[in-house]
Amino acid sequence: RGTQEVNENGHLTIGGVDTVKLVREYGSPLYVYDIALIKEKVAEFKKAFSRREVPWQVAYASKAFSSIAMIQLINELDLSLDVVSGGELYTAVKAGFPPERIHFHGNNKTPDELKLALDEKIGTIIVDNFYELTLLDQLCAERHQTIDVLLRTTPGVEAHTHTYIMTGQEDSKFGFNLNNGSLEEAIQMTSDSPNIVLKGLHCHIGSQIFNDKSFAQAINKMFQKFDKWRKQYGFQLNVLNVGGGFGIKYSEEDEPLMIEKFVDTIVDTVIEECNRLSMAYPEIWVEPGRILVGEAGTTLYTIGAFKDIPQTRKYISVDGGMTDNLRPALYQAKYECMVANKALAPADDTVTVAGKCCESGDILIWDAKLPKVTEPNDILAVFCTGAYGYAMANHYNRIPKPAVVFVENGSAQLVIQRETYEDLIKHELPLIQSVLV
Ligand code: LLP
Repeated sequence: RGTQEVNENGHLTIGGVDTVKLVREYGSPLYVYDIALIKEKVAEFKKAFSRREVPWQVAYASKAFSSIAMIQLINELDLSLDVVSGGELYTAVKAGFPPERIHFHGNNKTPDELKLALDEKIGTIIVDNFYELTLLDQLCAERHQTIDVLLRTTPGVEAHTHTYIMTGQEDSKFGFNLNNGSLEEAIQMTSDSPNIVLKGLHCHIGSQIFNDKSFAQAINKMFQKFDKWRKQYGFQLNVLNVGGGFGIKYSEEDEPLMIEKFVDTIVDTVIEECNRLSMAYPEIWVEPGRILVGEAGTTLYTIGAFKDIPQTRKYISVDGGMTDNLRPALYQAKYECMVANKALAPADDTVTVAGKCCESGDILIWDAKLPKVTEPNDILAVFCTGAYGYAMANHYNRIPKPAVVFVENGSAQLVIQRETYEDLIKHELPLIQSVLV
């Protein structure tokens, strides 16, 4: 994947950097990002869109992995940015990301979060519900400010993916339903408001999607309604944001589509609909997260304990687990791995890779193929952990979060320091007087 190779010592290298040396220098678990691969994915989106006759914008969904350095990289690459919380917005601001290219999402933005967005004069708020619409209208009125918005709609498309990451179906906590009058009412409200400038619509049908037809279906459904509203409310569709969700190859069983294929299906469908209704093409926005950073991330662990249950299973344990990668426990997500310091050894054994948390479900990979010569202190590389890995890391069992390094062209750069035990307790206050005394 990406720039991964094996060097003369039989060690896995990423971005021309020896992974064994990385662990020696920065410790483990360690998140390593292959920057060239992120750039390649961004370039694929740009190339796919620039061949086409429509205006477009690609916004990186920073929930997949947000950090100051990551946001700076996205800025260098000239993408827009999608944030979903005050914390992600704050990170973007601190990274110096141009506010006009920030899009703010979320199904329960708090008054403080909306105020921060208005203070920072961000480009677009994707409004999710009536509560938010009313609140935003009031805040803008108080501040004599206007704001560009998209209305998020739930088009009633069921993309085939894990239930927890399906979002386009009618019974969803997100967005205004397209088919029960909610979206229409929201459009009416915005057309009555002097503060809110309705630029268009947004939908996101789910994540880790392998089928471009789901995008086409969602677009068709939105246009069916749109025709009526433009006549009734003078609603102009300047922007159509079709969300993210483009799937990647975690393991052999995943068969993702090319970025170009997704883009072509989206653009073709929009053009077809616009021609049918004789209207100008809207700007098409997409919000990829996983596909830009997922395959670029590799987690390096140190192998420790072994347990062999004859005729049953062999376990090897690593120095991380569900604290740095929650996806296997939460979604039964599958990953592949290799022993990074024995990259040329044949994978002639089957072992289960366990994390170190006090929980039987903390298994990173069931039945992984690894060399028989694997032993304690070897380094295990787990691939494709760049999206929703560090981003969903947690402190269960009081395990500090790992460090993150970026690698490219033979050099490595630390971008997030490893947490210390001191960090774990830094917000805590001692007991002053026991309630029992
Ligand atoms: N836009 C919106 C409105 C979203 O809700 C999401 C993801 C994206 C864009 C980016 O989706 P992507 O291109 O990364 O698939 N934690 C789960 C994924 C949750 C996705 C939530 N929304 C996982 O680890 O699979």
